[in-house]
Amino acid sequence: MKIIMLGAPGAGKGTQADKICAKYNIPHISTGDIFRANIKNNTELGQKAKSYMDKGLLVPDELVVDLVVDRVKADDCKNGYVLDGFPRTIPQAEALDKALEASGDKVDYAINVEVPDENIISRMSGRRACIACGATYHIVHIPTKVEGICDKCGAELVLRDDDKPETVKKRLDVYHEQTQPLIDYYTKKGVLNEVDGTKDMEEVFGAIVKILGA
Ligand code: AP5
Ligand code: MG
Repeated sequence: MKIIMLGAPGAGKGTQADKICAKYNIPHISTGDIFRANIKNNTELGQKAKSYMDKGLLVPDELVVDLVVDRVKADDCKNGYVLDGFPRTIPQAEALDKALEASGDKVDYAINVEVPDENIISRMSGRRACIACGATYHIVHIPTKVEGICDKCGAELVLRDDDKPETVKKRLDVYHEQTQPLIDYYTKKGVLNEVDGTKDMEEVFGAIVKILGA
């Protein structure tokens, strides 16, 4: 089961990807998380990515495509995976399709989590993220048991650098310009599915499970 999560920044891609991966026991591959881990470890990739991410811009395709194409060839991806935050541009989608075609594979489901821009800014300011394990919470909607501490791994939670309202606005502009065209791209491939991301997260997950048919 090869699944792509589409949707605006803060739509809930990461939240739903986590739940899908736990249910179907497949890896969650988030390019944003990969970049944040590289920033934390101060790698060369992390330094390059940070300069774009902090401005709300996309990291250039050449820094992300090979990384993902290699990752999906790993052993743990044999039964499928959820790609969260990739592809984000038409060239990224084409590169992924080309790599999959080379091994007789294809994307099975593209799931678009729809949330209007108005809802996004308030969601983002309440988000808290765990840089250690990638878990995501919300101070109102999805609180942790102990304030500021990850339920899953016990690490301290942070407000992401790119969740400041000005940066979120820029990320939304970039999303509409560069990522939204993927909705048409996957519609034409016959694999696009839409879910209403403004609903409670369990309801959103229920809709996704229905689509995945299990
Ligand atoms: P990335 O980390 O992918 O960020 P994003 O796409 O902007 O999306 P987010 O992670 O912000 O949101 P999400 O949809 O995962 O929502 P979440 O589940 O957290 O990318 C960051 C940056 O890295 C990019 O800007 C770019 O620079 C770079 N990058 C990454 N991939 C790239 C690529 N392929 N190419 C180029 N550059 C790339 O939910 C949001 C909040 O809402 C949370 O607090 C959550 O708890 C809450 N929430 C979730 N669901 C619900 C619900 N149903 N009801 C109420 N609250 C909810
Ligand atoms: Mg995310």
